[in-house]
Amino acid sequence: MKRVILILSLINCFFSYAIDNSKKVCVLGTGYVGLIVGACLADFKNQVICADVDVKKINKLVQGQIPIYEPGLKELVSKSLINGNLKFTTDLALAIQTSDIIYIAVGTPMDEDGNCNLCYLNSAINIIKDNINGYKIVINKSTVPIGTAKEMQKTFDTQAKFKIDVISNPEFLKEGTAVNDFLKPNRIVIGSKSEKAIEIIKEIYEPFVKAKVPMLITDNTTAEIIKYASNSFLATKVAIINELSALCEVTDGTINDVCKGMGLDDRIGPKFLNPGPGYGGSCFPKDILALLNTAQLKGLNLSILKTAHESNENHKINVSNKFIKLLGNNVKGKTISVLGLAFKANTDDVRCAPSITIIKNLINNGAHIKAYDPEAMNNMREILPQVEYCSNVYDVIDKTDGIILLTEWPEFKEIDWEKVKSRSSSKVIYDCRNILNISKLKSFGFEVKNIGNAEVN
Ligand code: UGA
Repeated sequence: MKRVILILSLINCFFSYAIDNSKKVCVLGTGYVGLIVGACLADFKNQVICADVDVKKINKLVQGQIPIYEPGLKELVSKSLINGNLKFTTDLALAIQTSDIIYIAVGTPMDEDGNCNLCYLNSAINIIKDNINGYKIVINKSTVPIGTAKEMQKTFDTQAKFKIDVISNPEFLKEGTAVNDFLKPNRIVIGSKSEKAIEIIKEIYEPFVKAKVPMLITDNTTAEIIKYASNSFLATKVAIINELSALCEVTDGTINDVCKGMGLDDRIGPKFLNPGPGYGGSCFPKDILALLNTAQLKGLNLSILKTAHESNENHKINVSNKFIKLLGNNVKGKTISVLGLAFKANTDDVRCAPSITIIKNLINNGAHIKAYDPEAMNNMREILPQVEYCSNVYDVIDKTDGIILLTEWPEFKEIDWEKVKSRSSSKVIYDCRNILNISKLKSFGFEVKNIGNAEVN
């Protein structure tokens, strides 16, 4: 099958390049954002080359193997490999030279001190300026510190042989629903000073123009701020809800009803009001810290964002300590079952997952951890090798002293607790995503606690 895809894609590539007039696009970086952008633009019938220096990754992608778990992505990539609209290469120079439009979607990971590490971005900038062979548009999708695009434009203006227009086009896709988020965006933000570049990007995004997706045209710096502002605002919303859930626990309230009541106010809206074990992922924690650093460099103290970050850090530890309390204030020598490791459902991503902090705290208190996650165990093995990883949900629950649910995977809602009740020595469950049916569990003799609900305390 893999060989068939490869042969068909080579044949198709040859013919499509010979007769097709569509946009020639390259995407530098094949991480979450790069792969989604590349696959979706290929689906819009552009000729897309995704380029990455990681030979292993590219070899897999050429065969239609996707290195990340993202619903719908494999199908999209396979389709475009077969029809020839999508190619993968490690030859970044060639990808740049054969394209008119260059997307940058490289990682901008967080340094130990909370700064955004721009080494991959700088390599991309260098390789573009050194290999340019005509007018190009560089569209930046990577989340970069405010002012980066301006600096990039200066570098290209002074050091590249041909004109390059830089567009800042932040990505708002969410892991787990990324394909749908790209294909059906709720807004497009384009930051650029160049009328010509703006017209060309509008042509690439013609399907969005036709679908009347709101499009905000602004300058590069403002586009960069919009990205950070959106993530920081959403992270703060989650941090507030998590604090309110703690308040509900000590005041006899019910957080789910609080969220419903708040969400019905259309100035607030119902989204991103779900309490949990703390926000995580590769974006919220990193972006809020990067914004704080930028502000600090400019002599500004963004105290609300600083507090949101601290609140989230404390919340993860509080959740872990509450669970220990639930187990009689002592987990030494006890076996704990962890349901879910990914930072949220429908992804295998464990970057900054609250599960890491919570498990580490339990281990530090002497617990033995068994864990199960439908997709994230391979990634977590590298971070927490001392955890015992189980191959299914029933094995993890078997002979345990306590269960903590950390990721809202749909399959956890389907657990047959009646079947489990005789196998698990402890009946303590801490549902940190509020997805389990508490009354049913209670009827099977389980002692359940969830987030922000005094009634189940
Ligand atoms: C986030 C943004 O939502 C995207 O718009 C953005 O494009 C992306 O970052 C990025 O910058 O690349 P993502 O990190 O995939 O997307 O995840 P979210 O769905 O935003 O969730 C972030 C964290 O908040 C997760 O740990 C999640 O469990 C938590 N969360 C979210 C809650 O605890 N409660 C909620 O109600 C919502």
